[in-house]
Amino acid sequence: MRVLLIGAGGREHALAWKLAQSPLLTKLYVAPGNGGTSLVAENVALDPADHGAVVGWARANGIDFVVIGPDAPVVAGLGDEVRAAGIACFSPSKAAGQLEGSKGFTKALCDEMGIPTAAYRRFDAAEPALAYVRERGAPIVIKADGLALGKGVTVAMHIAAAEHAIRDCFGGAFGASGASVVIEDFLEGEEASFFVLCDGEHTLPLATAQDHKRAFDGDNGPNTGGMGAYSPAPVMTDELIAQTMAEIIEPTVRGMAARGTPYQGVLYAGLMLTREGPKLIEYNARFGDPETQVLMLRLDSDLLALLHATATGALAGMEARWRPEAALTTVLASKGYPGDYRKGTLLGPLPPDTADMVIFHAGTRREDGRLLSAGGRVLNVTALGASVADAKERADAAIAEIDWPEGFHRHDIGWRAILRERNARLDR
Ligand code: AMP
Ligand code: GLY
Repeated sequence: MRVLLIGAGGREHALAWKLAQSPLLTKLYVAPGNGGTSLVAENVALDPADHGAVVGWARANGIDFVVIGPDAPVVAGLGDEVRAAGIACFSPSKAAGQLEGSKGFTKALCDEMGIPTAAYRRFDAAEPALAYVRERGAPIVIKADGLALGKGVTVAMHIAAAEHAIRDCFGGAFGASGASVVIEDFLEGEEASFFVLCDGEHTLPLATAQDHKRAFDGDNGPNTGGMGAYSPAPVMTDELIAQTMAEIIEPTVRGMAARGTPYQGVLYAGLMLTREGPKLIEYNARFGDPETQVLMLRLDSDLLALLHATATGALAGMEARWRPEAALTTVLASKGYPGDYRKGTLLGPLPPDTADMVIFHAGTRREDGRLLSAGGRVLNVTALGASVADAKERADAAIAEIDWPEGFHRHDIGWRAILRERNARLDR
């Protein structure tokens, strides 16, 4: 199979690394790719936003299967255009991508299907929204309806912060994404991410993970795309997984099929594990970044076979096998991220990958044999271990060998799981 993978992040390097191991693969291209994907595939200089160029290139180069990584091309409907050209594609349709593209759409589906989620109201103007939060009280959560690079959500602990967020949204801080605002009740509990493949009708649960969204140690500082992750999430027991499948995932897949917009792709559920059980915080219509990096290191099965079965309605009877170890990834980011940062800074030679430590690249590029930074999140040092603590020790040892004065990273990825592991040992 000749495969074209769309994207340029750490998620795409991890997907490319795993796809490259498939016996079904004859050739792998990544567009536009990064300084890591070029080690396992051929990078192609295409702009994923230029759908005509992507489809034209895929046809001209005999591509059999396109895999779309990031949210923007999913929500913009690149998958529909690839399929219209007669090429199989791993991506939800534009209509099904609404599960990520519009928080209001997802809340309405939850209402319709009785899916547990925070109570909410949707507003198209500031005044009634302000009146609602004053009546409802804090803490309360304000969300721009559309994609906002992970920055459209404000968890307001006071009414003043809620009012500020509402004025920001309707004042144009998120462009068209903020023209409509969802206001929902604050949920208390531990968060977990859950990834499920769906072929429109059948589902295949993949794995659980937890990520760290804040920039600095102790879960402090501004929100980022994710500074690290680990899998599995120890808090997600088999019972909670079964409950999430029955109460959240399966009704979503049934509801989308009943609407005539079946969901085909990976469904990434952001969950809050509350005292009343798992509740849906949000859906993403793609793999997580950096969660994919830990998932791919743990996956034993052929990723290409799984993604192709998902895209072609052939998931029934498929299974995904996982290594027994835990995996953890720490993100090395450019100093200043998620604010302003320099690009083009020099990265020293990286320690070689081993069977249980792989460095996935995000914002990197190669120039005259040198490796340079090219984005905010730059490297994902990813390791396996008998426990999350072991995996972290192995990742830390690799990080210590990386010479990059312009970078920073968190030192406490996985702290919740490591604490849980320590307490479990003390209990024995
Ligand atoms: P989202 O972009 O919807 O994932 O929201 C970003 C983050 O805001 C989530 O990962 C949660 O930490 C937090 N959050 C979102 N909705 C709620 C809620 N209803 N209650 C508490 N925290 C929330
Ligand atoms: N790590 C969060 C995300 O991919 O949205």
